[in-house]
Amino acid sequence: MHGRTAGLGPSPGPVLAGETTVRHPEPSFGFPVADWSENSLGGNGIRSAVRISTSPFQSRFLEVLMSHEVNSVAVIGAGTMGSGIALIAATSGIDAFQVDVSPEQLERAKGYHAKVLARNVEKERMTEGEMVAALARITYVDSMDAAKSADWAVEAATENPEIKAKLFATMRATFPDHAVLATNTSSISITQIATATGDAADRVVGMHFFNPVPVMKLVEVIKGLATSDETVARTVALAERMGKTPIPANDRAGFVSNRVLMPLINEAFCAWMEGVAEPEAIDEIMKLGCNFPMGPLRLADFIGLDVCHDIMMVLYRELGDQKFFPCPLLRQLVTAGRLGDKSGQGVYDHSR
Ligand SMILES: NC(=O)c1ccc[n+]([C@@H]2O[C@H](COP(=O)([O-])OP(=O)(O)OC[C@H]3O[C@@H](n4cnc5c(N)ncnc54)[C@H](O)[C@@H]3O)[C@@H](O)[C@H]2O)c1
Repeated sequence: MHGRTAGLGPSPGPVLAGETTVRHPEPSFGFPVADWSENSLGGNGIRSAVRISTSPFQSRFLEVLMSHEVNSVAVIGAGTMGSGIALIAATSGIDAFQVDVSPEQLERAKGYHAKVLARNVEKERMTEGEMVAALARITYVDSMDAAKSADWAVEAATENPEIKAKLFATMRATFPDHAVLATNTSSISITQIATATGDAADRVVGMHFFNPVPVMKLVEVIKGLATSDETVARTVALAERMGKTPIPANDRAGFVSNRVLMPLINEAFCAWMEGVAEPEAIDEIMKLGCNFPMGPLRLADFIGLDVCHDIMMVLYRELGDQKFFPCPLLRQLVTAGRLGDKSGQGVYDHSR
């Protein structure tokens, strides 16, 4: 029998039969995340956290959480991930500013929100009134300045260190001093991104959602070198309020998820390139043989081949191992503009 982790941290290891207490994992954030979280299981992190009443240390966290309740979130980037994050904020009762420099992307996000919510009503997952209320909570804007009243910011723009550095300098100057400045980066160092914010580095954190955001339960919470414990606690609370399961990871390129997943996807491209098997066969073998819900090449199309390529380059540069260099075939498809589902063609044809 294995100990449960209260949705946070790695498994604490086996619990002996008859043992009643749960052993907690080593706290990786310098504060007892597992204790805090276990007491707050069951939904809205801020409300449920009120049930905790023990150490002065925990009281300090409660104070912080209560004094900075999140009423509105600015989501920077309205692509695959940003549109999903804005949607779950709205369906969790939080006002969302959907920010993008591209008017087409804002329109696309708007259409996506309307479509997903209408489907939820059709499937009786929500009422029509709830759909209307959620849509009314999202404001679509083409500049960060128009979202400056937000008390939380999540960046979900293109996976490029230079773009993120510029964005974080602007975020620091735009949002109030109590706002957490989170990034949804898949692989770029949180410590590096935080340097663009100067003295606000303690408020910069990785808040790594998964695709599709409304469906996937995980949020990988990444603490940079300067990220404060309060920022991490607030991020855990907001992720829980959005119905997600936050799990901590430390700040190394790719964190846990992409450090493990991306080399696997890359190897699938190499196997295809070397003629080991065709894409359909590679995906079927991994589905039937390894119980994957989706084959690695199909998953790459879903994620975006450009995103996979960019993540591999970050892993390669940061970790310095040749094994992370993107497969030539992956590079070639990206060069040709075959980016997967979003461009209509990738490994597979999605145009029909
Ligand atoms: N696609 C995935 O499966 C996935 C999963 C987890 C995390 N991520 C990460 O999330 C982030 C976004 O990825 P995505 O797949 O949504 O990318 P995407 O290409 O679908 O969207 C990126 C969006 O950012 C916008 N953008 C670029 N520069 C901007 C700026 N200066 N200001 C405002 N908007 C700007 C673009 O117009 C575009 O709409 C990346 O860091 C990526 O690594 C992606």
